[in-house]
Amino acid sequence: MTSRPIRIAPSILSADFSRLGEEIRALDAAGADYFHVDIMDGHFVPNISFGPSVMQSIRKLTTKPFDVHLMIAPIDPYIAAFAQAGADSITVHAEAGPHLHRSLQAIRALGRRSGVAINPATPLSAIEHVLDDIDLLLVMSINPGFGGQTFIPHAMEKIRQANALVGNRPIELEVDGGVTADNARALAEAGINVFVAGTSILGGNDVTTYAPRIAALRTAASTISA
Ligand code: DX5
Ligand code: ZN
Repeated sequence: MTSRPIRIAPSILSADFSRLGEEIRALDAAGADYFHVDIMDGHFVPNISFGPSVMQSIRKLTTKPFDVHLMIAPIDPYIAAFAQAGADSITVHAEAGPHLHRSLQAIRALGRRSGVAINPATPLSAIEHVLDDIDLLLVMSINPGFGGQTFIPHAMEKIRQANALVGNRPIELEVDGGVTADNARALAEAGINVFVAGTSILGGNDVTTYAPRIAALRTAASTISA
């Protein structure tokens, strides 16, 4: 369990892009804490999403933080563009390049919160030496690239270990992939405080379902046993 505040972060990758603005406004009104913004390049991951100009357009629709998850390589040439487009936190993958520390420094130098993500096969030791350089640690519970995948069970144990590694540092612990109201409680007990959810919030793209789904996730994440 964690003393960090619970944050529900809908992934707009699952939005209906033909009415993206309406989706953002609906999620905002439905109680989203953060907006999780997935950036994919068709190189680091086998899918392409959108870039900083789309992000800049939707940024003005809400005052809630944009939690930007970069699944791109190389990273460094694009960090400034996402900062300028209104990212509040910028998360880079430990696997995406040889100079993770440099990328994290660049993010903080731009005044943004820095995050690092690790894929299911990446050991926690990959981020052990950058713990003082991050504000957020994202443990992937799917292989990145697509929404709608099933949570990889081994991620739960990895999250427990990540929570122990983070200790009392002011680092948010985030999970991404296959998060539902059914596993949110166990994830919270393992130490997660930021819950990314695409399909389990936006599936079906019926805006009337967003508030009850966000509430269900929040309730599940909040009812942890001591
Ligand atoms: C996938 C993205 C996720 C994705 C999660 O690479 O990083 O944020 O949108 O989708 P769900 O919640 O459907 O697994
Ligand atoms: Zn993501």
